[in-house]
Amino acid sequence: MPPLLTRLLTADPDSLAEAGAVLRAGGLVAFPTETVYGLGADATCGTAVAKIYAAKARPHFNPLISHVPDLAAAERLGVFGRDARALAVAFWPGPLTLVVPAAPGCPVSDLARAGLDSIALRVPAHPVAQALLRAAGVPVAAPSANRSGRVSPTHVLHVMGDLDGRIDMALDGGPTQVGVESTIVACLGDIVRILRPGGVAREEIERVLGRTVEAAQAEAAISAPGMLASHYAPNARLRLDATSVEKDEAVLDFGGRFADVQAASFDLSPSGDLAEAASNLFAFLRALDATGAHVIAVAPIPHEGLGEAIRDRLQRAAAPR
Ligand code: TXA
Ligand code: MG
Repeated sequence: MPPLLTRLLTADPDSLAEAGAVLRAGGLVAFPTETVYGLGADATCGTAVAKIYAAKARPHFNPLISHVPDLAAAERLGVFGRDARALAVAFWPGPLTLVVPAAPGCPVSDLARAGLDSIALRVPAHPVAQALLRAAGVPVAAPSANRSGRVSPTHVLHVMGDLDGRIDMALDGGPTQVGVESTIVACLGDIVRILRPGGVAREEIERVLGRTVEAAQAEAAISAPGMLASHYAPNARLRLDATSVEKDEAVLDFGGRFADVQAASFDLSPSGDLAEAASNLFAFLRALDATGAHVIAVAPIPHEGLGEAIRDRLQRAAAPR
């Protein structure tokens, strides 16, 4: 791949109009969403989507989420049954991705869908993402804007660190708010399943549907083929649910548990707030990795609410590879 000149621009009306044109012309633009930064391409154009896989060095079998500005645009691409519609109305725009049957004549390229007859759709809430989608006027396929296998970017400098010279443009919209990726819910036939825990907690989804929904499990790896076990990979080894800190370990703390320990340490949330912890997770993993520590001791994270998504990402980061 010949190197590109990657333009890093502050998101404003001029740069957004330009970014929309770059997307329509088949180029790659990284942009902020409320979860993590995404790497966008025109989802309807196979050659544009192919550039995403090349820039990320991502395996081809991994389908992408198509981003659109609102439910009306999503309904042109996918078929929404009662449950999917209820979830879309409750959580869009926001950190929820719905996997639904692709609409007849769905214009999203086979490559973005990895040949599946379903499609993953998301309406992001971030104002820069919203403005970009409206400027582009096409559905935008966007995985997280990192090299495949790396921790997802929550800051535009993470994007540039991974992808400078490999994409056309990066829009700076500041640090992302939610910090973990969207919750992926499949609504296929009568069955609703959470394929990936994320920014919308399972409890909130169950409240809207009025019944319990299965949490993500090992099987989900098959229906969400991108869910490779070691997807979120820092260089250091992670020791989860640590109750003490060993010599030479760095620390990813929660709720001030290890506040008195002498070590390179970041606390995801000194007050024990899971939303704050989610927003800090990937940046702190990158920062701890940069200390050169071989092992990061991770304090126990509660299972409820956003804790499910945080624990999921930590388990993937800890998986052997
Ligand atoms: O928050 C997010 O969701 C971010 C921002 C940029 O929107 N995007 C993101 O995309 O996390 P990515 O590519 O890292 O993850 C997409 C996931 C993968 O696990 C993929 O397998 C799954 O969505 N997926 C996509 N299409 C699918 C489909 N038709 N059926 C099941 N899973 C699907
Ligand atoms: Mg990713």
